[in-house]
Amino acid sequence: KIVPVILAGGSGTRLWPISRDSLPKQFLGLGSDHTFYQETLLRLPKAGPSVTAPIVVTSEDFRFFARRQATEIGIEPTIILEPARRDSAAAMVIASRFAVERYGEDVLVLALAADHLVPDADLFREACLAAATVAEEGYIVTFGITPTEPRTSYGYIKPGKPLGTPGAFAVASFVEKPDRATAETYVAEGYLWNSGNFIFPATLMLSEAEKFEPEISAAAIGAIAGATEDIGFIRLNKSAFLSIPAKSIDYAVLERTDRAAVIEGRFAWSDIGSWDAVREMSTADANGNVTHGPVSLLDSTNAFIHSEGPLVTGIGLDGFTVVASEDAILVMPSSRSQDVKHLVAGLKAEK
Ligand code: GDD
Ligand code: MG
Repeated sequence: KIVPVILAGGSGTRLWPISRDSLPKQFLGLGSDHTFYQETLLRLPKAGPSVTAPIVVTSEDFRFFARRQATEIGIEPTIILEPARRDSAAAMVIASRFAVERYGEDVLVLALAADHLVPDADLFREACLAAATVAEEGYIVTFGITPTEPRTSYGYIKPGKPLGTPGAFAVASFVEKPDRATAETYVAEGYLWNSGNFIFPATLMLSEAEKFEPEISAAAIGAIAGATEDIGFIRLNKSAFLSIPAKSIDYAVLERTDRAAVIEGRFAWSDIGSWDAVREMSTADANGNVTHGPVSLLDSTNAFIHSEGPLVTGIGLDGFTVVASEDAILVMPSSRSQDVKHLVAGLKAEK
């Protein structure tokens, strides 16, 4: 059995001022009819005898988004609520333990990020099923994406010996968020990007987490053991949860385990990690301009303008990005979109 788990508790800052701590990217649509969270639910392998209903792990603060946006598309996930942010390792252990308790020892967990763009859902479902056959052999399987540039915001995977399934390899090494120079050598040496989606036997994740991060593992298991259920939300035990060290699953387990495998992700994929990525996935007009919302441009080319409120106007813009929310405006050359996180860090420091 496959148990889909959606990790939807992150708070992205790279799409500021639209994505905020109070309303992060996964619960936004950005020009599509569905939010990224809804798209993630819609591209799951179909529920049936071999795929269970999904489990969503998110923050207490986002509970109503998680519930309402799922209901809107006719899906009723189990929703587990975290009282604070402890990054993805805690959420993975909690979901794996919950899946074992509810569905049995031999389940696979398909753990997906809630804020990625994968336009071809059918191709993605096929990849998940192929990856499941690798996971069955006792692997934590990652989906590898062919890099287009040396980005430092990703995990890098060196494929090792081929496994039985076509396109699947043991992972020879996994390095999370290397520096720029290291990322350049990895791209040259044929490493793959980690897409941030995984499929694994729940018991394998639990034993690897216990081996490498006993503190996270014990506290996370305590948090789910002491959970309470209320109007359909599962609330983790607060004191146990708050004692969990914050760490992502990439540093906690993927960099250290010798049970990781990678399967080539043959689907188009973006983690929409910047405004530039939003621009790339949108359709441009004849002048190369992409506009969302009330916008009027004169003599402008290659501009990206996204407004969720005010009318934005521009004259003679080339290669500029303007993002307007109700209460804040971002203006920058489009090439600087990776720096938004630094701007937001500066704003938080000033508070
Ligand atoms: N429930 C819960 N709780 N979910 C969380 C938390 C948390 O505290 N923190 C993050 N998440 C969720 C996010 O919402 C997202 O869906 C997923 O976990 C990954 O977290 P990110 O914070 O977006 O990770 P990242 O983008 O820096 O890095 C990961 O993804 C890259 C690809 O986009 C890593 O797996 C990298 O190796 C990978 O390349
Ligand atoms: Mg991410």
